[in-house]
Amino acid sequence: MSKKKLNVGIIGYGFMGRTHSNAFRTVNNFFDLEYEPVLKAVCARDGAKAKAFAAQWGYESVETDWKKLIARKDIDLIDIASPNNTHAEIAFAAAAAGKMILCEKPLAMNGAQAEAMVKAVEKAKTPNMVWYNYRRVPAVTLAKQLIGEGRLGRIFHYRAKFLQDWTISKDLPQGGAGLWRLDAKVAGSGVTGDLLAHCIDTALWLNGSIDKVTAMTETFVKERKHTLTGKVEKVGIDDASAFLARFSNGSLATFESTRYARGHKALYTFEINGEHASIFWDLHDLHRLQYFDHRDEGLTRGWRSLHITDSDHPYMKNWWVPGLQIGYEHTFIHQVADFLRGLQDGAPAGPSFRDGLATDYVTDAVLKSAKSGRWEKVKQLRKR
Ligand SMILES: NC(=O)c1ccc[n+]([C@@H]2O[C@H](COP(=O)([O-])OP(=O)(O)OC[C@H]3O[C@@H](n4cnc5c(N)ncnc54)[C@H](O)[C@@H]3O)[C@@H](O)[C@H]2O)c1
Repeated sequence: MSKKKLNVGIIGYGFMGRTHSNAFRTVNNFFDLEYEPVLKAVCARDGAKAKAFAAQWGYESVETDWKKLIARKDIDLIDIASPNNTHAEIAFAAAAAGKMILCEKPLAMNGAQAEAMVKAVEKAKTPNMVWYNYRRVPAVTLAKQLIGEGRLGRIFHYRAKFLQDWTISKDLPQGGAGLWRLDAKVAGSGVTGDLLAHCIDTALWLNGSIDKVTAMTETFVKERKHTLTGKVEKVGIDDASAFLARFSNGSLATFESTRYARGHKALYTFEINGEHASIFWDLHDLHRLQYFDHRDEGLTRGWRSLHITDSDHPYMKNWWVPGLQIGYEHTFIHQVADFLRGLQDGAPAGPSFRDGLATDYVTDAVLKSAKSGRWEKVKQLRKR
């Protein structure tokens, strides 16, 4: 059967530009779908580098101005893989042009901007999604399934952290290529919007909405040279962020993130403790889900380390044979597969821009609480 072509125009050829391009290229080899992404154009400001990227990944053309990309009639889908301060403006223009939009996380610089983005895509009735890819690690998807089946019973605790160690040196500059995450004007916030946003999206998905939070943040290195101005400038991002939260289902949570945990590169973990069972997941061992069920027979009761590679595990029948694991890049392939299936079935897959807004509401409350020193209520999504 011939596939329906979906012409993709991607903005940004950095880290995410590569993960997304790989997903668009590979998805139809492993998933049987009506739609087929076509790598139509890559857009970035440096034309020569964009050309080299296009040649390496198989894009048919290059643009250096995203407005021109959006104006093109032969583009169906705009994929925003550029820094956070560019997301809103590009999404507004893409929605106005009636394009489908995939946008990197965090959706926006703050909740107010994200609200406007949700309004724009919902007014345009255009398919939209945010790249919170960790939902599609098979072990994490299985955690969702186990919770949905009620295996954990009432949830008491949610515990998440995301630890890195790459900004400890005070000689590291801020701003510009590769270091825009340290510049608050481009990133919006530090680890709260960059790393905790992932933990929050997963938590909202697995455990429902968060009512209120109390937080502390710290900026350990207060001034850094700015790559673009050459001047030493104040650092506006949070280097570390930790918060307590109360979920609407009555469970209590702790979240912690830092780029100052020496020895940790991308240690995203979560543990959920329920009345009957607990689960634990660790990005460094992403194909495993640790599961403890109190209802097991006493003598052999204990933590089970489930190897999520069987064909009845989420997504795994599309890959190799049982026992052989997959990795990080596959989460993006799964996300594209679900997005395309959503188009085909008319049942959009999440996380939508609306879901991305819910996470931005939580990060807003975290940053507000860190300033006020008080518990802050989390704004809730209004019904459509
Ligand atoms: N889902 C995830 O796990 C994940 C991981 C990393 C980054 N991200 C998000 O992805 C986005 C990009 O991050 P990254 O790590 O790929 O960054 P990066 O610095 O590796 O790449 C950014 C790209 O955007 C391009 N760019 C910047 N401004 C532009 C403009 N005005 N017009 C066109 N292109 C422009 C740059 O040239 C570069 O190609 C960010 O929003 C980030 O938060 C998500």
